[in-house]
Amino acid sequence: MRFAPPSGGLGELLSSQHLLAEWLADGRFTLIADLLPDALLIVDGRGILRFMNSAAEALHEVHRRAHAGRPFAELVKESPLLGEAALEALGRGRRLQRVDRTVDGREVLTVMRPVRDADGDLALFVLVQRDLEAIRRAAASAPSLDQADGGGGEYLRRMVAGAHNRRILEKGLRALRLGSRVLLTGESGVGKTLIARCLHEQSAGRRAPFIHVNCASIPESLFESEMFGYERGAFTGALQRGKRGLIEAADGGTLFLDEVGEIPLACQAKLLRFLEDQTVTRLGATGMRRVRVQIVAATNRDLRSMVESGRFRRDLFYRLSTISLRIPPLRACPEMIPDLVELFVREASARRGEPFRLSAACLARLRDYHFPGNIRELQNIVDHLAVMCDGVAEPQHLPEALLAEADREEGEPAAAAIPVPDGEIPSAAGESLGLREQVRRFESAVIAEAIRRCGSKRKAAAMLGVDIATIVRKSRD
Ligand SMILES: Nc1ncnc2c1ncn2[C@@H]1O[C@H](COP(=O)(O)OP(=O)(O)OP(=O)(O)O)[C@@H](O)[C@H]1O
Ligand SMILES: [Mg+2]
Repeated sequence: MRFAPPSGGLGELLSSQHLLAEWLADGRFTLIADLLPDALLIVDGRGILRFMNSAAEALHEVHRRAHAGRPFAELVKESPLLGEAALEALGRGRRLQRVDRTVDGREVLTVMRPVRDADGDLALFVLVQRDLEAIRRAAASAPSLDQADGGGGEYLRRMVAGAHNRRILEKGLRALRLGSRVLLTGESGVGKTLIARCLHEQSAGRRAPFIHVNCASIPESLFESEMFGYERGAFTGALQRGKRGLIEAADGGTLFLDEVGEIPLACQAKLLRFLEDQTVTRLGATGMRRVRVQIVAATNRDLRSMVESGRFRRDLFYRLSTISLRIPPLRACPEMIPDLVELFVREASARRGEPFRLSAACLARLRDYHFPGNIRELQNIVDHLAVMCDGVAEPQHLPEALLAEADREEGEPAAAAIPVPDGEIPSAAGESLGLREQVRRFESAVIAEAIRRCGSKRKAAAMLGVDIATIVRKSRD
């Protein structure tokens, strides 16, 4: 690394002590320098320490206020990370590059570079120090959304991220880092649980607790003791020493409230209380404990309509869904299918100890299928192929149900009724529109929703059991 300023450039600018002071006093310089992971120190031509960034403060365990403006030699005397060699380099205006080991065994790389002015006089010294151990630690646990470099956590590395999923992860991460709660919605099998795990890994860290609470499987009578825990002797049958609840278990990490739409109404109030003040009181206890958990919830239900029909508390809905992210069904992102197939084939090949692949015809069949069970169904299909085929999976190896589905003639309904988005259905009461117009609007809403869900007009036509021309005509209306 050369740190030679262009002649008449940095060196000349900084040779005037006045200008150097002005530059260092500029808050923008400090702001940027404090973002650096490496320690940065600037010493002027007279040997006075003019600047140190916050990483330098941490490395030398001193306050910059106490040292800036004083001779650099004083800091050298105090800090075990700077020695005679640094003073000598400064005295002679020489470069220096060395690795020192601290008493507690850390390795620190020090690089010193003199900067000269246009006349060749020493204008200043720039020192960069890097705690090699800290950099290694940071590299090992650094969150990264970039899979190409092999970074990220175990779940993120395995995840096939379509453009949509990437955006969901980015938004979710930003939300959690800003302290918001995240609600993941989407049909069963689209990857809500996997995304929750990735969000946890990237925000709280792999080693922080991730507590997966399946709200559908906790009986109402046990909800409070499971979630909040209890003191010993709180009720008959309680453990002698009491028990920590799931919320406390997630302290410092993530509480994942899966199938949150299934929480019984009576328990919703208790959960709400926790979300409001982030404290838990164990059953039978007098004091409360504050916990620091980030909350991700998931559901395949339409919580909004559950709120409207009184089956889900409105206040709880708003507390949980500061940020609501919808994961699209697989049929809306067919471009993910080849990558997903490749992943699942690799995993199934490893399990069966004998590799196999899908023929182009077999893959084409899958691309045309509408996957009501989403990614989980695709994974099951690949597992089925792993059993049925030898080296190459052909269409005849696919599950019969899938073949029957794909062979079905157009004109037969292929899926369950499509719910029309709220607000799209014209209400008869108070509407001055005639029946024909109301039917037309209703039809358009159903068709628009089908196209949105299926990702194409052709697939929407198959799903609604009409031909494509009808869809094209009616969606133009
Ligand atoms: N993007 C993806 N890349 C690789 N595998 C995925 C992806 N999304 C989901 N999967 C896999 O598909 C299966 C279903 O995903 P997951 O359990 O996360 O779905 P879900 O939305 O939580 O479903 P449910 O609503 O039934 O709980 C899992 O085995 C998961 O590992
Ligand atoms: Mg799930």
